[in-house]
Amino acid sequence: MNINILGAGYVGLVTGACLAGHGHNIIWVDIDQKKVQMINNGKSIIYEPELNSLLKKNKRRIKATNYVDSAVKDSDITFICLGTPSKKDGGIDLSYIKKGSEEIGKNLKQKDWHIVIIKSTVLPGTTKDFVIPILEKKSGKKANVDFGVAVNPEFLREGKAVKDFLEPDRIVIGTNNKKTKNVLEKLYQSFNCPKIFTGLSEAEMIKYASNAFLATKISFINEIGNLCKKLGIDTYEVADGIGRDRRIGRAFLDSGVGWGGSCFPKDVKALIAKAKETGEKTRILEEVVKVNDLQPLKMIELLKKYIPNLKGKKIGVLGLAFKKDTDDIRESRSIPIIKRLIEEKAFVKAYDPKAIKNFKKLFPNIKYCNSNEVMKSDAILILTDWDEFRKLNYKGKIVVDGRHILEAKKGIYEGICW
Ligand code: UDX
Repeated sequence: MNINILGAGYVGLVTGACLAGHGHNIIWVDIDQKKVQMINNGKSIIYEPELNSLLKKNKRRIKATNYVDSAVKDSDITFICLGTPSKKDGGIDLSYIKKGSEEIGKNLKQKDWHIVIIKSTVLPGTTKDFVIPILEKKSGKKANVDFGVAVNPEFLREGKAVKDFLEPDRIVIGTNNKKTKNVLEKLYQSFNCPKIFTGLSEAEMIKYASNAFLATKISFINEIGNLCKKLGIDTYEVADGIGRDRRIGRAFLDSGVGWGGSCFPKDVKALIAKAKETGEKTRILEEVVKVNDLQPLKMIELLKKYIPNLKGKKIGVLGLAFKKDTDDIRESRSIPIIKRLIEEKAFVKAYDPKAIKNFKKLFPNIKYCNSNEVMKSDAILILTDWDEFRKLNYKGKIVVDGRHILEAKKGIYEGICW
């Protein structure tokens, strides 16, 4: 099929490259000329394992442009993969979705049948009450009569996005239109996994509920972990024990310094904000966020067991990214920790294999150095689970570990939840 993807960011790029790998023709539309050029040269502006090779291998089937009109004209399907950043009140900013829907709507005028698929993470009700009215107004046409609409959320993890797209646990498709359903069945027929067909708002809620549950799982094991720490119990042994139960599952039960990234924080807060609008309480989700906000301070508490007064002390920090194998520092748990160390007038020496450039924008005045230099400190904090941190010499060092790097036990060692 000929597919147009609005937004060549993280989700749009991975979606297009993987669908191209399944034989579809892809046209990305993006306002960023640099992105357009890089894609047309077979390169991606984001780092994701296997993404560049997918773009190279399928270069005959992919191209990028700045123009929505030609892309809609030359395709059967348009994916909306535009950003939905957080607003101050925790809700989501729909300005990109609005602009994109208007552009598509205008171009639907000339199309006898076209399908618009929302892949962006939007709150339940957004497609029905916000996107479809814009498409109908701008096109003068009727949804599910003159054009099809569907919601197809993504469940991609940074650093594993290509794998997650090509080997999904399930594909969720929300639509109220038989013709649209048939086209999407065809689009994904080469994916060997369960396809869940449901309503528009149900599909939107499945995305939010998935992320909210995964964040809840992590905050749950961190709360259990904080208690285990007090009782001298290893939470990882407990996680292995409960995770064997099929109803629980071991994944996302790694206790530690907490969850960050561009999705969990944004999506959980958006769901809380949406619930508030309806007058529904979200006691559990609000506590999930609170547990996560407080978790990094457990690292400071443990550090102070060995160095009660941090003023002037050299504190080495290993890991700045919100998780390993990415340079992304959004909502990284290292942010509140480094903020606190600076408040306590410690001398911070930080290293991360990929995230220093991004972290410097937030904290320009701490010392950035290599891991050996970081080790020459009064104490070391491990905040991201980079594999290379398993190979360092911790002998004789005070180490507070937030990410279960057990090789650090050779030092004077404290695990946050174990
Ligand atoms: C997440 C969801 O997993 C993905 O399905 C969704 O589409 C986007 O958001 P991502 O944010 O890339 O993906 O990272 P993920 O691997 O889920 O980790 C999120 C955070 O949780 C990281 O800070 C990670 O360190 C932390 N985490 C993860 C834990 O603390 N414990 C765990 O067991 C798993």
